[in-house]
Formats: sequence, C-alpha cells, structure tokens
Amino acid sequence: MKRLYLQEVATRDGFQNEKSFIDTEQKIALIDALSQCGYAKIEVTSFTSPKAIPALRDAEAVMAGIQRQSGVEYTVLVPNVRGAERALGCGIDEANLVMSVSEPHNRSNLRMTREQSFAQLREVVGVIGRGPVAVNVSLSTVFGCPMQGDVPVDEVLAWVGRFAELGVRGVTLCDTTGMAYPTQVETLSRQVRERFPELQLTLHFHNTRGMALANTLGALQAGIERFDASLGGLGGCPYAPGASGNVCMEDLVHMLDLMGYDTGLHLDRVLAASARLPGLIGHATPSQILKAGKRLDLHPIPAHVHSLSQQVAHHD
Ligand code: COA
Ligand code: ZN
Repeated sequence: MKRLYLQEVATRDGFQNEKSFIDTEQKIALIDALSQCGYAKIEVTSFTSPKAIPALRDAEAVMAGIQRQSGVEYTVLVPNVRGAERALGCGIDEANLVMSVSEPHNRSNLRMTREQSFAQLREVVGVIGRGPVAVNVSLSTVFGCPMQGDVPVDEVLAWVGRFAELGVRGVTLCDTTGMAYPTQVETLSRQVRERFPELQLTLHFHNTRGMALANTLGALQAGIERFDASLGGLGGCPYAPGASGNVCMEDLVHMLDLMGYDTGLHLDRVLAASARLPGLIGHATPSQILKAGKRLDLHPIPAHVHSLSQQVAHHD
C-alpha cells in the first residue's frame, strides 16, 4: 500500500477565518483529539500579530497546553522574526512561513511586496537556523491569483528555487482560492518534483470551486505523497464569498482509503473530531461524509419493502 502523509490545518487555516473566538481550552481539547488520529503533521496555530488575526491570539497558551504525541509533528505559521522568536519559545517542530507568488495577492494579504516578504522570511530562516526546528514555506496562489489570473510557471519555479537555496526542508504549493484544475496540478507538481527532488513537497487545496478532490488525484498522478487538508472543510477565502474552505480532511481520507492508500489515519476518529466542530464554531461545516456517512454505512431495508416481498411470495 502506498503511504501518504496527511497534515491537518483546521486549527490554523480554519480557525483564523472564524468570526467568533474559540476558547483556548476547547482548542487544546480538539488538538489533543487530533493527536490520536494518526496525522503526520498538525498546524496548531499562528504566531501572527493578535491585531491581524485575533482568533489565534492565544498561540502560546495553546502550544503550552497540548499533549504532544510522538510521531506527530507540530507546526505553526510564522510571519516574521517576532513570530519566529515567540514560536521557538514554545518548542515547535516546524515553522511554516507564507508568502504569495502573486504580487497583488502578496500586497493585499501581507501588505508587502514579494521582495519585502522574501527579505523578511530569509531573516526568519536565519533565526531558526539549521537546528532541530524545520522550516516549510507555503507559497500562495501558485495555481492562479484572483487579481492577477495565472501566475507564470517559471515564476513559481523561481520562488521555489529561492527558498530551496536558503535550505528550507519543505515547500507547499497552495491553491489559496480554488483556481487549480487537475491537469494543471499534475503538470506543475511534476515540474517541481523533478527540479527539486530534495524538497519535502506538500499540496494544499481549497474546495472553492469544487475541484479539490479531483486536484488531489492530479497530484497523486505526479507522485505527490503529502497533503494539507482541513477537518470539516473549515477555512475560507475572502476573494470567493460564501465558497467552501480547504479540502475536507474526512472526505479526502474516505476517498484515499477506498482507493487503497495508507493514509495513517483512523477515519472514525477523524469523523468524531469533526462532529465536535459545529459546537465549537457555531455553524455547520461543509463535510460531505459527516452528512452522508461512509460509502458502506448501510441503511436498513424499509419495512414496506419486506411486506411487498411477502405479498409477492404469497401470490406465487
Ligand atoms: N507577533 C505579535 N505581534 C506582532 C507580530 C508577531 N509575529 N508581528 C507584528 N506584530 C505587532 C507589532 O508589534 C505591532 O504592534 P503595535 O501596533 O502594538 O506596535 C503590530 O503588530 C504591527 O507591526 P508591523 O511590524 O508594522 O507589522 P504589519 O502591520 O506590517 O503586520 C504581519 C505584518 C505579517 C505581522 C501582519 O500583517 C500579519 O500577521 N498578517 C496576517 C497574515 C496571515 O497570517 N495571513 C493568513 C495566512 S496566509
Ligand atoms: Zn489555505
């Protein structure tokens, strides 16, 4: 069975988009439950400015409160040196840095030019050094930008290359606003894998236009083994109002299990964790498997079918 590595992002990419503040204790309890599910990585929180992302203003308390499970890596989003220092103080396994490969998207999300972002992130890589803490860089809008449109492939490859030169362990190709389509994903994934075989490569899809599971198949065709996804499909996108969020973790695991992949995950535990979300966030999630059940969760045959077959037998 081919092994895949799944990385949970709901408590960062998901929670940062929620309007109401989720209690620190509730966040900790959810992450502790997720630690028992078999994830390769959990993106716990974000060490950004509490003014920029108030939903995650309790990053230190959450990191201090969770019970770490061996075999699970605990990663956090780090926007700048200040964030890196705070995160290192919490004993993280990995820092996840972000910038966009699209100039207008980077300016609107991070209020900097891409060059300014790169300079800042290079400093962060310097602070983290080559010690025990790994660095991953999540590149936003690699499959399209809601303002610019397509981002040239050569530009994407050049940004991956600049971070590879800094010595980061991994790069994530993010479809931040759900513009990717399967054949595009397969082609770009192959190009990045061939050019940078030493990088730990992750694909990160949003289901904004309903293509996230199809895009996963495109990535699998190119040999990708590592995927971000979000419990319940939490997550959002300010440029596609009302659209659903990240690819839903349980929908993804359900599909990959049926296809015979080894995801390392206990689907029933993931589903139980997902069932807690509406109580935490105050609204339903876009999870399909939570609504419909697993493929072979069978239903009893209705009573009227029994009586019908008895009538047929009687007439014979
Ligand atoms: N942790 C805590 N506080 C921070 C911080 C950090 N990592 N970085 C900046 N701050 C504080 C500063 O101390 C300053 O506080 P003050 O107003 O009380 O003096 C304030 O935030 C502004 O700092 P500045 O250096 O001017 O940063 P900025 O306003 O340009 O913000 C970011 C830069 C990146 C920190 C901010 O835009 C941000 O966090 N954005 C969120 C990006 C994000 O996570 N998006 C979603 C993921 S894709
Ligand atoms: Zn995302």
